[in-house]
Amino acid sequence: MNTPAYPSIRMRRLRRDAFSRNMVRETSLSAANLIWPVFVIEGAQRTQAIASMPGVERVSVDILIERAREAASLGISAIALFPVIESAKTPFAEEAYNDDGLVPRAVRALKAAVPDIGIIADVALDPYTSHGQDGIMDDTGYLINDETVAVLVKQALTHAKAGADFVAPSDMMDGRIGAIRSALDDAGFIHTKIIAYSAKFASAFYGPFRDAVGSAGNLGKSSKETYQIDFANSDEAIRECALDVEEGADMLMVKPGLPYLDVLARVKDEFKMPVAVYQVSGEFAMLKAASANGWLDYKKCLMETLICFRRAGASAILTYGAVDAARWMKGES
Ligand code: PBG
Repeated sequence: MNTPAYPSIRMRRLRRDAFSRNMVRETSLSAANLIWPVFVIEGAQRTQAIASMPGVERVSVDILIERAREAASLGISAIALFPVIESAKTPFAEEAYNDDGLVPRAVRALKAAVPDIGIIADVALDPYTSHGQDGIMDDTGYLINDETVAVLVKQALTHAKAGADFVAPSDMMDGRIGAIRSALDDAGFIHTKIIAYSAKFASAFYGPFRDAVGSAGNLGKSSKETYQIDFANSDEAIRECALDVEEGADMLMVKPGLPYLDVLARVKDEFKMPVAVYQVSGEFAMLKAASANGWLDYKKCLMETLICFRRAGASAILTYGAVDAARWMKGES
């Protein structure tokens, strides 16, 4: 081009007024894009604060139903259930596939009381193992893949039988998506969807979650690096996604969120299928802690992160701020 762009072109023209900024906004967010992760405990009328996740509580099923009703009325698509198992933690995680366990009971109660909200049940053994790892361990402390997958399949069937809409394998064992898909199909659960935690990194941002589900103490100093992805890698995340697509995943997930937007964008670009992103507990805790100090504005920063996830390619966002965001979008405070 011969003529210099400036001064005839001024990018700020469209930014000058609210109406034109709104007109050219490239990305939208609605409550339907949100998935609310919740922590469920045994008992009735129980709530417990979680110190490292201000504003988040563990709740008993009866209270969860009230909260789910509100989330549904705000237009939130789904809730993701995470059980806090206070007893019954064992080396082989038998409680994970107990049809009368906490998760199946919560799923049945929610489906009966709040049929409009989607229910996502996690598939991983960490709430149920005495060592706090996501699978079955051998004598050396290594998680044995195929034996773990066999248990995950039982757990997924238990969730499907209870009526979960989605099962969400978050364990990162090899081959679990295919094994779960074929077991679901064989049992007639052809409509049960799989949202695969495909690109799940070995992240220190999960710290507050491990406090919330009570696996932190049991895990001690051990890590999950032998099964979750090295955070330095992104090609490897793409390979994981490709395998899960081939094995039958309906949706993929990238986790954590904010430090992994590059991975999210790559996954969306590569597979052109619905991708979820998980704004994990540590990300939420950072926002809350800085806001509590007056250093950040929780509302503005949360909404910005959610839009940025959408911009990077996320269809759905798991966030502990789902209800806050949905209320604000409705104009409530
Ligand atoms: C474990 C699981 C984790 C999270 C969800 N499922 C933690 C982990 O892998 O140790 C983390 C979620 C969060 O930090 O909010 N199956």
